[in-house]
Amino acid sequence: MAMPCGLMDHLSARNAVEEVRAQIGFHDYLYYVLNQPEISDSDYDQLMGKLGKIESHYPQLVTPDSPTQRVPGRPVEAFGSVSHRVPLLSLENTFNFGKLQAWHGRVCRSVGGKEFGMVCEPKIDGVAVALVYEQGRFVRGATRGDGHRGENITENLRTLRTIPTRLLGNELPGGLEARGEVYMTKAGFEMMNEELADAGKKLYMNPRNAAAGALRQKDARLTAKYPLDIWIYALGWTEGSSPSTHCETLRWLGDMGFRVTPQIGRYEDVRAIEESYGEWRERRHQLPYEIDGLVVKVDDLALQASLGAVGRSPRWAIAYKFPGAEATTKLKDIVVNVGRTGSLNPFAVLEPVEVDGVVIRHATLHNEKDIQRKDIRVGDTVVVRRAGQVIPQVVGPVASLRTGREETFVMPDKCPVSGDSIESLEGDATRYCPNGACPARLSRWLLHFASREAMDINGLGEQWSEALVERGLVQDPADVFWLTKERLLDVEGMGELTADKIIVGIEESKDRSLGRLLFALGIRHVGREVGDLLADQFHSLEAIAGASIPELESVSAIGPKIASSIFDYFQNESNRRIVRKLGDAGVIASQGVSSPTEGPLAEKIFVVTGKLDSMSRKDVDYRLSKLGARVSDSITKQTDYLVVGTAPGTKKLEKAQLYGTELLEEEELDRLLSRYGAGN
Ligand code: IVH
Repeated sequence: MAMPCGLMDHLSARNAVEEVRAQIGFHDYLYYVLNQPEISDSDYDQLMGKLGKIESHYPQLVTPDSPTQRVPGRPVEAFGSVSHRVPLLSLENTFNFGKLQAWHGRVCRSVGGKEFGMVCEPKIDGVAVALVYEQGRFVRGATRGDGHRGENITENLRTLRTIPTRLLGNELPGGLEARGEVYMTKAGFEMMNEELADAGKKLYMNPRNAAAGALRQKDARLTAKYPLDIWIYALGWTEGSSPSTHCETLRWLGDMGFRVTPQIGRYEDVRAIEESYGEWRERRHQLPYEIDGLVVKVDDLALQASLGAVGRSPRWAIAYKFPGAEATTKLKDIVVNVGRTGSLNPFAVLEPVEVDGVVIRHATLHNEKDIQRKDIRVGDTVVVRRAGQVIPQVVGPVASLRTGREETFVMPDKCPVSGDSIESLEGDATRYCPNGACPARLSRWLLHFASREAMDINGLGEQWSEALVERGLVQDPADVFWLTKERLLDVEGMGELTADKIIVGIEESKDRSLGRLLFALGIRHVGREVGDLLADQFHSLEAIAGASIPELESVSAIGPKIASSIFDYFQNESNRRIVRKLGDAGVIASQGVSSPTEGPLAEKIFVVTGKLDSMSRKDVDYRLSKLGARVSDSITKQTDYLVVGTAPGTKKLEKAQLYGTELLEEEELDRLLSRYGAGN
């Protein structure tokens, strides 16, 4: 029964804390490990809120394994070292089937020709860690180190939501050590490097280095910001009984709440493993994280023990590795292309080279600073790296192979396409073409402009965006709104139906909110959120275009960098023309919902998340606006209410919790609207 925590006695508080923590642990497991949440995000938030409340009344009950303590509030001085009770071994490698057969033959002979099963699982390319649990609680986590002693990185590991702080189940062993690989996803790695490149900082070479860097942060609050995850692949040791095969061990660990890879197969025949290896070589690129081979293990643990180890490698397992994801080749040239926001992106033109079965001719070079930092010169022999769908990258030069004829790269000072003088911004390593109508930017920009998050123009995808720019029908962003069906039909391959669809899509997009329009314009550093903030404050495109830097900076969350980017955008004459044309075309350049300042809900700002059963979004906007309220697309400190429908967005809920925004269920919204005569 709910009891105000101030009235709880210490014992019931302890029990309540234990119960809520167990519930949260279970729901973390369902959500993060199994991807099958059973409760809504807001119910989860309520549990966290409840725990936080009790803990704040009874600070003596706060333990390091509490879900509220995943990210501590202070950095550590230095990592201590810990000794591993059972050493962490490494694996013998093979790159070919012959050596795998030889390994299999050796195991067969050692077991006297008996049949034995093998397990095959992905070899995750990350950082090996050992996680120690006592009485079901996570007490220590360490790196592999030299196999005998590793670094104590408990605090950092605790920030990973897929590492349980408490194990699930009633019959837990007194102690155990789970082993696994911490990794960073390919997408997370790309994103992080983009951010680092923007800030002119040193980039990580690959997701493994990034994961290692993240785990070695002295401040766990920084580790928590990296997109890290873990797969558990073995039991190091346990006190008490444990399963007798590797497969069962993984299942057992999974039942206790660990994230164990589901991608395992059991084989009796080494040829079947070869087949699976061939499939994995292809499939690896579809995985969201990097694997560098397969690990083949003898399944029976007693057999494993009898096989033992030679040196640092066990006889019962072998790594069957994929061919390298790196190769060297000649860097023939460095060419600059222009991105959607006008960013000048240097890329490498390479002597074609095959990397893991794919011929690579181009690779990214991020930005000028990065080229300088790595000292990459045209004519160099360079290491290129391909990591699945991640765009190939130039890792660095092989300086020892230089002939002296290599040339240092100099960034052009004019846009290679429009000829405008290029701009650099303080704190941003990328350079930009300031001309919003630069032809190279256009097709990319148009695609972005029409995208779901921006103006959401139905029917205008990649194919037609490019065709429209190529045909000269769109020369600046505002031209979209001057397209007619006849003009569209001029485009090769465009049929009546498509043209109609695009025209309707364009018409419908005219009343998208101002925040979206601002985002769609592709102003540097103006994402959806900043767009909404500006819209909330200024209400019209003209007002924003005329605002001074201090006026722009007066908007919360807008600092000097964003303010000057917005200011500069509207100083550019081509961009000012775009604004005028948008106005002339009837694109509603005021906040999507008219914002009367009168009415019972005047000045109140609402955000809606998830689907509502009884009314459409447009309906909600309309009814609330009639009462004087404003409906915005994203949550800020100013937001008064978050209306929560079915399948709400986690980010919005998290922000609402952060800002203490009041949540309204659909029924409550209904009641509120009815109270003022705007109900159903
Ligand atoms: S089993 C005796 N399974 O590969 C070592 N290792 O070179 C038993 N690794 O240090 C390790 N994925 O960090 C095992 N599914 C997997 C693995 C895996 C990645 C790493 C591990 C180990 C290294 C061996």
